[in-house]
Amino acid sequence: ETGYVTLDQGFVNTASCASAITYIDGDAGILRYRGFPIEQLAGKASFLEVSYLLIHDALPTPAQLAEFADKIRVHTLLQEEMRTFFSGFPRDAHPMAVLSSAVTALSTFYQDALDPTDPEQVEISGIRLMAKLPTIAAYAYKKSIGHPLPYPDNSLDYVENFLRMTFGLPTVTYEIDPKIAKILDMLFVLHADHEQNCSTSTVRLVGSAQANLFASVAAGINALSGPLHGGANSAVLEMLEQIRADGGDVQSFVRRVKAKEKGVKLMGFGHRVYKNYDPRAAIVKKAAQDVLATLDRPDPLLEIAFQLEEIALADDYFVSRKLYPNVDFYTGLIYKALGFPTKMFTVLFALGRLPGWIAQWAEMMSDPTTKIGRPRQLYTGEAERQFVPISER
Ligand code: SDX
Repeated sequence: ETGYVTLDQGFVNTASCASAITYIDGDAGILRYRGFPIEQLAGKASFLEVSYLLIHDALPTPAQLAEFADKIRVHTLLQEEMRTFFSGFPRDAHPMAVLSSAVTALSTFYQDALDPTDPEQVEISGIRLMAKLPTIAAYAYKKSIGHPLPYPDNSLDYVENFLRMTFGLPTVTYEIDPKIAKILDMLFVLHADHEQNCSTSTVRLVGSAQANLFASVAAGINALSGPLHGGANSAVLEMLEQIRADGGDVQSFVRRVKAKEKGVKLMGFGHRVYKNYDPRAAIVKKAAQDVLATLDRPDPLLEIAFQLEEIALADDYFVSRKLYPNVDFYTGLIYKALGFPTKMFTVLFALGRLPGWIAQWAEMMSDPTTKIGRPRQLYTGEAERQFVPISER
């Protein structure tokens, strides 16, 4: 099955590597983390349980989970010097740029513990990243609104700590809403890994040069920021808001997509692998309906999203191109309802994807047969030519 090569639409789709972590069947809409179907994990296993599963290839016992959570908890604090690091950015810096820069900067505090061939240093690097990325993410947000950078509160669980750092203020007591924490935890589970997607392949490729985990994850964050990948959840909201600003005429927008107007895509639709449906999208859509139903006023963007989905699923232009809602189509509506600004949506994707990046990078480091190695190409340029000195050109 590996080494499968097909020339499709100018792309050579090959199995870039072997991996035992996540299985996807794009036609059947199957997604399994270490063999466990996503439907059995989302909403039932916590994000730290699933992170442990991805990294250690086993669902943790209560004692193992408690130890894993404690190991992470004691590393949530950033070095004090890192706090000044954030003051170097303009207030409107994109939080994904802040995130990838901060992750690279973080590695400078651990220069004696970055050896990718030392299992103990690999483990502590993973723990440090799991612990500190939520702090960095919260700081990126706080920096953008000119608020003070809060310290983590280790009496809280993983997601609650992130929510309090993000939305809490020193002037008031932040009340954690357990429903919000539970929904965000489930969304992180849904994003935790996804086989060899663009950002995970980037993490593996950078790591294949024996670059350390921080450098590899920073590269993955940059790949994820692209609007065709992790940036899509923000792009979906911008698309829905544009449709509303233009009077809410969904049919007119669909006509522009089908006319292939420059830069007009149905964001949140289509997938390189899922050609029938993205199993995560069904779960997220239900969560979006539940979350938005609790709002005291309906979100008009949800109505536009439902109309778009209904029209697209009945229109041969999209059906013939196998374009169905992907995981990003509804997540942005939930993040918005939870109080996050659009620019933070892809940061939330990165927080969810982190354990997958760690697990995939560690797998590649520990088992050379799973390396992506050095991709080759189909050369389509000129045959050999002879040099002509500039005086004769
Ligand atoms: C993620 O790989 C992963 O696993 C990623 C991810 C993960 O968990 O890591 O699942 C997360 O990145 C999900 C995808 C989020 N991106 C978007 O929602 C952006 C919008 N979608 C696309 O740009 C696109 O669908 C891709 C990139 C996601 C997939 O592209 P494909 O399957 O390679 O298809 P293609 O680009 O070759 O297009 C095939 C046809 C073309 O039309 P024709 O030239 O044949 O006429 O479909 C059209 C495309 O123009 N098309 C779209 C479209 N996506 C493809 N037309 C309108 N809207 C779209 N969204």
